[in-house]
Amino acid sequence: MTYLDAKTGEQLCEAFWNCLNKKAASWSGDLRVGVDLGTANIVTAVVDSQDRPVAGRIKKAEVVRDGIVVNSVEARDIVENMLTELQDELNAELKYGACAIPPGTGEGDFRATRYVAESAGLEILDVFEEPIAAARVLGMADQAIVDIGGGTTGISIIKSGEIVYTADEPTGGVHFTLVIAGNFGIDFDEAETMKLKISNQNKLLPVVKPVMEKVAGIIDKHISQYEVKKICLVGGTSSFKGLKDIVEQVTGIPVYVPKRSILVTPLGIALSCRKGGF
Ligand SMILES: Nc1ncnc2c1ncn2[C@@H]1O[C@H](COP(=O)(O)OP(=O)(O)OP(=O)(O)O)[C@@H](O)[C@H]1O
Ligand SMILES: [Mg+2]
Repeated sequence: MTYLDAKTGEQLCEAFWNCLNKKAASWSGDLRVGVDLGTANIVTAVVDSQDRPVAGRIKKAEVVRDGIVVNSVEARDIVENMLTELQDELNAELKYGACAIPPGTGEGDFRATRYVAESAGLEILDVFEEPIAAARVLGMADQAIVDIGGGTTGISIIKSGEIVYTADEPTGGVHFTLVIAGNFGIDFDEAETMKLKISNQNKLLPVVKPVMEKVAGIIDKHISQYEVKKICLVGGTSSFKGLKDIVEQVTGIPVYVPKRSILVTPLGIALSCRKGGF
């Protein structure tokens, strides 16, 4: 897959959002699947031969920690169930797919991720580095891609489509939720629900601001030796209202957050998956 541009990428993410749990009206040709195993969520994305998002699933799961699969049986079961549902929904076979790993993942962990997708029934054509998959969707061949997911903030500096620097630090969406839980004296799940209600986020901003500043400081520290002109935030936590502004203030660099930030990487994995004739 060549690099798209941000506008096309945003449109494709929106189309993917609209067909999550509800298949697209039309599709054609061979289908391929992207599997994203995250700390907070497992996401599968199905695209057709014309690179149109066709269907998908997202499910909360605690099967990965720090990029490492810690419960491969549960991960396999979830992906297998998703594939079964998607095949029934589309009335088509899902044979080929790809998955992704955080940059810097060792050989053993790389194999564990691949094994989950293969044992769920897919022939895996490729394993990508997550920020490369995201960068391709958004046309960011020369940017810093920062993935703020559930457990970690992953920083990748990309030059001419190659990762030249990468780092991963253990601050992510979970820490936002923990701070909210502590502040209101509620349990984690209640705090997560409160956080995800967009209308609550203005009120929660002062509570989570120190965590946002920590994330911004992490980004600033890692990109400081590079000439970065633009930062793109992906991953679910990037959507928290106000985070973009804090990262801009701390780094002094323009920040771009795609609307469906949580879907960029999974869609990028599916779109990047190719087999000779596709
Ligand atoms: N609109 C939103 N506002 C704030 N936080 C959000 C929003 N949507 C999702 N999140 C948070 O994003 C996190 C999940 O994001 P994502 O699916 O990108 O993570 P992941 O890929 O599973 O984790 P990781 O990349 O760290 O392994 C969760 O902590 C969730 O609470
Ligand atoms: Mg992720």
